[in-house]
Order: sequence, then structure tokens, then C-alpha cells
Amino acid sequence: MQTIKQYIDDNKQRMLGELFELLRFPSVSADPKYAPEVLKTADYVAQKLRDAGADNVEVCQTAGYPIVYGEKLIDPAKPTVLVYGHYDVQPPDPLELWHTPPFEPTVRDGKIYARGACDDKGQFYMHVKAFELMMQTGGLPCNVKFMIEGEEEVGSNNLGIFVKANRERLKADVVLISDTSMISMEHPSLETGLRGLSYLEVEITGPNRDLHSGVYGGAVANPATILAKMIASLHDENNHITIPGFYDDVIELTQAERDALNSAPYNEDEYKKDLDIQELWGEKGYSTFERTGTRPTLEVNGIWGGYIGEGAKTVLPSKANAKISMRLVPNQTSEKITQLFTDHFLKIAPPYVKVKVTPHHGGEPVVTPTDSVAYRAAEKAIAEAFGKQPIPTRGGGSIPIVALFEAELGIKTVLMGFGLDSDALHSPNEKYDIFNYYKGIETIPLFHKYFAELSK
Ligand code: BES
Ligand code: MN
Ligand code: MN
Repeated sequence: MQTIKQYIDDNKQRMLGELFELLRFPSVSADPKYAPEVLKTADYVAQKLRDAGADNVEVCQTAGYPIVYGEKLIDPAKPTVLVYGHYDVQPPDPLELWHTPPFEPTVRDGKIYARGACDDKGQFYMHVKAFELMMQTGGLPCNVKFMIEGEEEVGSNNLGIFVKANRERLKADVVLISDTSMISMEHPSLETGLRGLSYLEVEITGPNRDLHSGVYGGAVANPATILAKMIASLHDENNHITIPGFYDDVIELTQAERDALNSAPYNEDEYKKDLDIQELWGEKGYSTFERTGTRPTLEVNGIWGGYIGEGAKTVLPSKANAKISMRLVPNQTSEKITQLFTDHFLKIAPPYVKVKVTPHHGGEPVVTPTDSVAYRAAEKAIAEAFGKQPIPTRGGGSIPIVALFEAELGIKTVLMGFGLDSDALHSPNEKYDIFNYYKGIETIPLFHKYFAELSK
């Protein structure tokens, strides 16, 4: 323990400086205008893996952005940890709401503000620095493989192909990922599940062109109004989703499982205060943790149509659109839910409009084991670094590759995230606490140590 803390102490500034360099790359995977920067980020990550001591480092080309691979194999008799992370980030928009520019990392109040600070550059880079630390202070307890991708935020479309083509190279005993949240630094926790995702776009077309809203308004259905009505009808008065068959495959938790989830610390007043809302909303009969971690949901991610520029323009738009996503829980599949949504949405369309539904990407839900050697190693590592036993929770977000690792490679995942829900992932002013960054670098070598010991 002392050597870990000592090494971090001696290398603090450099470890932070390197993360800042990484955060300066605007590696936005969703917008092609950033493509050269995304590619440069992959090269930077590869170089940092080499510098830290990894072998066979390769920037593996795909049909999209490259996957950075590197490894250090010390002994075939020792267990192997496959570290997964992503170097791409979400678009920084809306830019005007950032207090400091998203790609100029700035420290305020002990926190690093930058796009990707928490999701996932700050988190995966802890693994690179923890690896360096182990290499420099007594060696690795386990074999380590790194797979850092550049398309997580756009659905990891090429990662599945890469995994299938590299089964042998990716062989491991556990996948270790830091890309999730803890309850708080006082209440360290480990996520034991992720929701799946079905993401699609709808387009409502009314008249064949935009119309003068005075000349035609009142006689022709307005697609924006129709879209709003159709979307509003997708939840009933109890905030249940109304799509027929939507809940058919959902497994209800046992009372014991619900009690365990609800025993985690939660302060509703603080939760509301942080978001500046007066009341919470959600499916009747479930708590906040149950709603975000164990129940499927449907959200409008964006909605537009007609005139949205400066000032006023009187127009009855020809089209209205929305991007809609559904979060899925174990036993639901993105393919089936996408189909159920599509059938239902087409069915509820009134005759005044035409409806088009286009699927985007999907991902399957997972529950990760809490009785495995790897989970126990993570528990021990966190207990030692934080002085407290971690609480198991269920995450509301999605990392589609986790289900794929299980299906394709037969490997289970440990979700050892160090972010906080309040770190503003995907929002303006995303942040990551410098304390969490160093705490992660301290905890990860302990995971490797205990995983090796408990695997014997
Ligand atoms: N790191 C997040 C997922 C996450 C965040 C899980 C917090 C648990 C807690 C990841 O980068 C992400 O944003 N995933 C997307 C899905 C992807 C297919 C675009 C998501 O959850 O919306
Ligand atoms: Mn992420
Ligand atoms: Mn993300």
C-alpha cells in the first residue's frame, strides 16, 4: 500500500498533466468534422500504453474509428484482466453553457472540467497509470490486456466485429471497466448491472411542403401537434409505457432484491436540489433507484420541426421529428423492443400524417455477478482504498459491449467506476474530481493483487 501511495505522490503532477493532454483532443465520435482529432487521440493513447510498458501495442483499424490494443503477458499460469474503455466523447453542445471551453481542461475547486473528464478519458486513463505504477513498483500480479475503443458514444458498431475476429487475442478471465458511477466518495459502490438500449428516430410528415399557418392552419393537421400527441400517449397516468407487450419479458425483482437496492443511501431532497426540480416523476410503485436501475423507460432525446430560428415565422411545418430511446432491463432485447415500438407507433398514427421510424443503435442489458472471484477482488480493493465496503447498485446507463463480451467471449465484467452521477456526463461542464482520479489509480493495483490472490 505504501509503495502505491508513494508512487502516486511522486508522480502526481505528471499523471495529471498527461490526462490534461488527453482531454485536449476533441475526440467527438458523433460528428465527422472531428475525425482527424479522433484519430490523433487513438495514436496518443497507443503511445501512452507503450510508454507505460505495454507490448504489442496496435492501433487496430476498423470500418470506423480504430481500437487501441496493448498487452503485458507475464505468465500463462496467472489470470488475465482485460481492461476496456473508450477514448471518444460526446459532442460538447450546447457550447454556450460551458463556463470554460470543453477541450481546455480547467481545475476549479479540485475538479477537472472538460468533455470526457469522467466519461471516459479520466476513468480509463487511471488504468494506464495504474499499469505504469505496477510495472514500476514490483511488477504485475496478473496478465493485462487493454482494449480502448473510439465509438462507444455512437453505439460501438465495429467493436463486435473486432471482438469476433480477435477471440484468441482477447482471451481473459475478467473484463474490468471504469465507466460507471459510485453513489459518493463517502459511500463507495459497485454497479452490478447496466440497462440495454433501443434508439430510434421518428419522422411525421403532413402536407408536402411548409404552409402559411394563416392560409392553411385549421384545415390541415400540424405534424408537430400530431407528433406531440403521439409521444404523450406513450406513457399512461401512472407513467407506465403503453406500447403493447413492452413489459412482457421484464423480470420483476424479488422483494429481497428490492429491499437490498433500496437500502443504499439516498437523499431525495438533495437529489431534487441538485437538479433544481420540485417533484420527482416516474413509474408508479417504484423508488428512484428501482426506476433508474431495474425498470425499462422511454425518453425523448430531441424533438424538432418548423421554425426554430430567431424571431417569429408563421408556418405550418411539413415535417416534425423526434429521437427516442428506450432503456431495457434483463430479458428484454433491443431487437424485439424496437419492433414493438415501430409497430405501435405506426398503428397510432392518425390518417392526416405519414410516419417513418428509423432504428439507430441498440445494446443489450446485463447483470454482472456478485459472487465471482473478480467481484470479491473489487470489493476488497475498494474496501482497502476507501476504508469502506462497497455497496452493490444497478446502473441506469448502458455499455452495450458488456453483454457482447459475455456472449462472444464468455467473459463476465466487473464495473469498477469512480465517477459520480453529478459529474455531468453528456452535459455542459462535465467534471471529474482529481481526488477520484488518484483514488482510482490507487484502487486498481489492489484489484489486480487480490484478483491474482483469490484466483489461486
Ligand atoms: N459511461 C456511459 C454509460 C454509463 C454512465 C453507465 C453512467 C453507468 C453510469 C457510456 O459512455 C454511455 O454514455 N453510454 C450510452 C450508450 C451508448 C450506446 C451511446 C448511454 O448510456 O446513453
Ligand atoms: Mn462512457
Ligand atoms: Mn457516455
